[in-house]
Amino acid sequence: MKKSKNRTSLAVFPGSFDPITNGHVDIIARGLSVFDQVKIAILLNPDKRPLFTVEERVEIIGETYRGDPRVSVDTFSGLLVDYAEKAGAAVIVRGLRAISDFEFEFQMALMNRRLNPRIETVFMMPAEQYSYLSSRLVKEVVQLGGRVRGLVPPVVERRLREKYGSGRPDPSPRRHRRGRS
Ligand code: PNS
Repeated sequence: MKKSKNRTSLAVFPGSFDPITNGHVDIIARGLSVFDQVKIAILLNPDKRPLFTVEERVEIIGETYRGDPRVSVDTFSGLLVDYAEKAGAAVIVRGLRAISDFEFEFQMALMNRRLNPRIETVFMMPAEQYSYLSSRLVKEVVQLGGRVRGLVPPVVERRLREKYGSGRPDPSPRRHRRGRS
């Protein structure tokens, strides 16, 4: 892909982000190795009942990327390609974790290309340690009292605990030093 010298290259990274995980964070970092800026675009979807409101998701992502001017967050409704074009992005970035993602992603990419051939979809693979990770699994694990440290940004871990209560106690509590309380 030809990279213009004078223009900032912008990629849109669309999704539900309910909530953002370290898999998303990994894809954003990879996106930033190719594009100057990444705009995270949260779909406003009235058909879904998310755990985090759109406002909460914007806040969480804002906190995760505070101090990094290369990453911004926005919401959109309607066609993704229309949003991307209005935002001034020529590229949509999507993460591909496994073969199971492929069919849906392939359909979306080709439909988006048909709708607007000026917008290119670029797939990026996350690090192997995130290849099984999903927002849905993260929510389920926390709801059932499991830990997700290292799988989500710290702000997400905290917000999940606030939503679901503290869950099971941490299985690796700090060791008490003998003779001291
Ligand atoms: O995180 P998700 O839920 O996998 O993200 C899906 C998303 C938001 C990328 C997809 O649902 C989308 O682009 N919706 C916008 C509607 C649209 O443009 N549809 C036609 C193209 S397939």
